[in-house]
Amino acid sequence: MIETGLKDKVVIVTGAAAGIGRGTAERFAEEGCRVAAWDVNQAPESAGVFQNVDVSDARQVEAAVDEVVDRWGSVHALVNNAGIVRDAQLVKYKDGEVVSQMSDEAWDAVIGVNLRGVFNCTRAVAPKMIAGGSGGVILNASSVACLNGNFGQTNYVATKAGVIGMTKTWARELGRYGIRVNAVAPGFVKTEILAAMPQKVLDGMVSHTPMGRIGDVRDIAEAYLWLASDAATWVTGTVISVDGGLVIGT
Ligand code: NAI
Repeated sequence: MIETGLKDKVVIVTGAAAGIGRGTAERFAEEGCRVAAWDVNQAPESAGVFQNVDVSDARQVEAAVDEVVDRWGSVHALVNNAGIVRDAQLVKYKDGEVVSQMSDEAWDAVIGVNLRGVFNCTRAVAPKMIAGGSGGVILNASSVACLNGNFGQTNYVATKAGVIGMTKTWARELGRYGIRVNAVAPGFVKTEILAAMPQKVLDGMVSHTPMGRIGDVRDIAEAYLWLASDAATWVTGTVISVDGGLVIGT
């Protein structure tokens, strides 16, 4: 059996106050990692040491990374999990008129957190990993939604597809420093982000999922843990779907 090699390693998890991020932070903490739990809302103690960080704000991110390095030394893994939705159709057209559109605010908000946030955090952490000399792992939250498009999610899907592009680019750029970069594309997981989704849509998703259920945060946390561990030292530049088979479901 391969040891995870994660004990005492420093891990930053963004969006760690709730949902998948919280579950992931708790899973790394259980593994004996020193976890920095970043969020705009207070994260529970079980998720690690809370830092109030808005990932869309580059200055806050840089200050928080410095704090982590001062406290614990070099960073082993960054999980870019924080994400939001502001759903709306691109254009809603009825009786010969435009009834509504996706707003600039909805576009900018989602780009700011899901895309710029991932960029901000990785740009701040990567130099510390390089300077530390022991490599590192960057893990990015994509989504099943971007693999086939998703109704009402122009902004969200653009960010989740963008995250895949950044993942592959950074895998190429940072591999020479022993830094691996991968994305996870979760299927539908029971968290707050799904709260706005009508039950009918959720039921439809389950019926297209070979494993016949919505995901649990732990399903995704285990994927992040494996990718960050010594068991995955030859895995980089890839996107792992963790979705109960939704992508291949019919
Ligand atoms: P969630 O809404 O339950 O939790 C998101 C967390 O991110 C919250 O604690 C929130 O406060 C935090 N957050 C929001 N804006 C932030 C900011 N600017 N800076 C720092 N933290 C911020 O979301 P969930 O469902 O746990 O999703 C986590 C990630 O997984 C997201 O990137 C999401 O897009 C992705 N995902 C989720 C799926 C699902 O079905 N739940 C499916 C596919 C992807």
